[in-house]
Amino acid sequence: MTGTQIRSGLDGVIAAETRISRVDGDAGELVIAGYPLEAIADRATFEEMVYLLWHDALPTPGQLKMFAKELTTGRDISTSSIALLAAAAKYRTPAMEALLMAAATLHLQTPPVAENAMAHALSIVGHLPTLTAAYSRLLDGRDPIAARSDLGHAANYLYMLTGWDPTAEKIRALETYLCTVADHGLNASTFTARVIVSTRSDMLSAVVGAIGALKGPLHGGAPGPALEMILEIGSADRAESYLRRALERGERLMGFGHRIYKVRDPRADVLAEAASRLYQTEGDRQFYALALEIERIALRLLDEYKPGRRLHTNVEFYTALLLHGVGLPPHLFAPTFTLGRVAGWIAHCMEQQRIDRLIRPQSLYVGARDRRWVPVEERE
Ligand code: ACO
Repeated sequence: MTGTQIRSGLDGVIAAETRISRVDGDAGELVIAGYPLEAIADRATFEEMVYLLWHDALPTPGQLKMFAKELTTGRDISTSSIALLAAAAKYRTPAMEALLMAAATLHLQTPPVAENAMAHALSIVGHLPTLTAAYSRLLDGRDPIAARSDLGHAANYLYMLTGWDPTAEKIRALETYLCTVADHGLNASTFTARVIVSTRSDMLSAVVGAIGALKGPLHGGAPGPALEMILEIGSADRAESYLRRALERGERLMGFGHRIYKVRDPRADVLAEAASRLYQTEGDRQFYALALEIERIALRLLDEYKPGRRLHTNVEFYTALLLHGVGLPPHLFAPTFTLGRVAGWIAHCMEQQRIDRLIRPQSLYVGARDRRWVPVEERE
């Protein structure tokens, strides 16, 4: 393999054909199954988005009704899942780790993929919000709330967190968020999911692996820290000195920069609009104004400290703003990202299953050669 070029982050490597989404980093565009993100994210319900990703077509009213109903049937979690979440809450396990462990317990109740792949997939998407909401309540020392079948996916999640019927504005904001993050090309967690099903493993195993990939701070773990940064700064007059100090220490500003988007992150634009609408009726307007001011200063300073790196606001900054406005605590940001992205993971699993080709790249060995075995007692 002399002369082989290694792309250590797999940058620019095309590893799959997909009909699910197209990410154009140079143009700053995201297309979901043929629809520009801006045309669909704020209009579709989450159920419609899942249907689109899994069927490559928007549902008719009848199809949507049936699909949404099927999604409600797999919401109740088992006592084993609750016991595991309760144990995790006792140790104050981070929410993504608790979700990762609890998602694996769905093997106890998810219909086997071999019998009915669609029921298996619906059951995963239906159960994850219940696991997330139950854990959040257990962390607060409260009992989980049972799912309601008369509410849509997003509304039911908010209901299970609080026990209150959410406002229409909060439901729409959350639907927009879930639709916005539902899929995004061959990102790290989606690639993980595809690798797992390419071995003919099942979709739930793929989702568990994908959660492990998503929870890293360079992927789905950024919005919590982005919100913390805004809260820590606290007032506009402290923003510049705070951000300068961070950059001088060589730290990364959470919510800025992207591997692919070097012009704009279209998801950030969609969420920015959704946040602007939400904060007109809900949430803390002063906080919202402060966040916008911090963004303005951060972009100026990133340009000063990292010229030419083309660092823009990414989806995670506006995720922090929007989900904070919806009333979610920061520890639920990454799990809530999971509830949206699971739709894309499963769509990719279905696509990969149709291709049925094991993903197995190669590595270039650069270690020692021709070493001789030395018995342990002779080693120094
Ligand atoms: N703050 C400060 N500097 C930054 C930032 C940032 N947020 N992002 C990149 N840089 C700098 C790097 O330090 C590097 O500087 P150098 O050339 O002086 O070494 C340069 O910009 C290029 O950075 P890379 O790491 O090569 O860029 P990459 O494309 O690999 O990184 C990433 C993308 C990981 C998202 C990065 O921008 C980052 O760490 N951002 C902060 C974390 C974040 O917001 N993550 C969420 C991403 S969105 C998502 O995954 C859904």
